[in-house]
Amino acid sequence: MEQIRTQVGIVGGGPAGLMLGHLLHLRGIRSFILEDRSEEHVIERVRAGVLEQSTVDLLHEVGLGDRLAREGLRHEGIYVAFGGERHRIPLAELTGGRAITIYGQNEVVRDLIDARAATAEPLRFEVDDVSIRDFDMQQPKIGFRHDGQRHELTCDFIAGCDGSRGICQPSIPASQVRIYERVYPFAWLGILVDAAPSSDELVYSLHERGFALFSMRSPHVTRLYLQVSPEEDIEQWPDERIWSELDLRLHTRDGWTPLRGPITQKGITRMRSVVVEPMDSGRLFLAGDAAHIVPPTGAKGLNLAMADVWRLAGALGKFYESGNETELRAYSERGLRRTWRAQRFSAWMTSALHRDNSDAFDQRRQRAELEYLVSSRAAMTSLAENYVGVEFD
Ligand code: APR
Ligand code: PHB
Repeated sequence: MEQIRTQVGIVGGGPAGLMLGHLLHLRGIRSFILEDRSEEHVIERVRAGVLEQSTVDLLHEVGLGDRLAREGLRHEGIYVAFGGERHRIPLAELTGGRAITIYGQNEVVRDLIDARAATAEPLRFEVDDVSIRDFDMQQPKIGFRHDGQRHELTCDFIAGCDGSRGICQPSIPASQVRIYERVYPFAWLGILVDAAPSSDELVYSLHERGFALFSMRSPHVTRLYLQVSPEEDIEQWPDERIWSELDLRLHTRDGWTPLRGPITQKGITRMRSVVVEPMDSGRLFLAGDAAHIVPPTGAKGLNLAMADVWRLAGALGKFYESGNETELRAYSERGLRRTWRAQRFSAWMTSALHRDNSDAFDQRRQRAELEYLVSSRAAMTSLAENYVGVEFD
């Protein structure tokens, strides 16, 4: 078995693991990233697309802003639609100029992989049989197989960036963690379409048939979602059924509707919230989806992951500079504060915009919620400051 030594062993090469590796490299800290899927899979996987202001600022600060500046679409507002009307929420005006940028998560991942390749730092795809141990000791270990050979990585720290189905979080003894979970009675059917977006900004719509979301990836690609039941089977949704449902739910009285085009990808994602407390155990630190899942309504998943690794890299930097562990010890508590704030916001957006047919009282209350939202500057400001995201902390 080959023995390898690194400072920080990173399990998972999604946005969290790759950005952590990049931030550590900029601080002169060595890391080793292990990813169990192929490079193509990681790059092509269709995921989120909304970057908060702080995520955009971070990408620029760490030298990854060039393509983002050229291809990202800065949006200074979003629409909320109900009762056949679209109402604009002017995000930038309400938050002193903060905005969101549309840039696919897979583009962020592509930029990060290119940046990694430009360093001599290791990033291994298609590893298997990954396991971690001894993270309650000074020198934790990660075992894995690559190209048919077994390896053991000895580290100072392990970063568990292996997403919601990873091995790091389940390796922590159950008695040391508490897991909070909420399963929502909704799922999103998402499609990617080769068509120019017919609105400059996103449209979150509540219709009596359920929620629909109009989004985009570029000036040529539209992204659309429909609320469906979690039991729904994608085979029951031929293209024509998806389009007619989108038309019904998104069409507004001003005549606006999404432009149709060839559907290049479709899938159904169930919605849930998970929070793992605490986010660390000894010398193991969880970041991103490995530590928390949010429903997609608030567009917070990727941004929370970026906030985690920014904080973790800062804390590790302090440790290697001066031996001071104060920030590492505060990592979880500070992260959980941000996580719960994002959970609150995402749960609120989800409940305000999704139709639950079982409750007539709730439907009328929901209508009042949206009417209040679009008529009160205070309510709009509350949505805006959470949607564009508070500064990394
Ligand atoms: N060994 C190595 N890699 C693993 C293992 C394992 N045992 N298990 C999972 N992985 C990899 C996955 O293949 C994936 O590439 O870990 C990576 C985790 O990446 P993501 O799931 O993308 O999670 P994260 O990096 O935390 O990104 C945040 O925000 O928009 C949301 O859910 C969306 O992925 C997004 C997330
Ligand atoms: C997306 O474009 O994929 C997207 C946009 C907004 C959301 C969730 C997903 O709230």
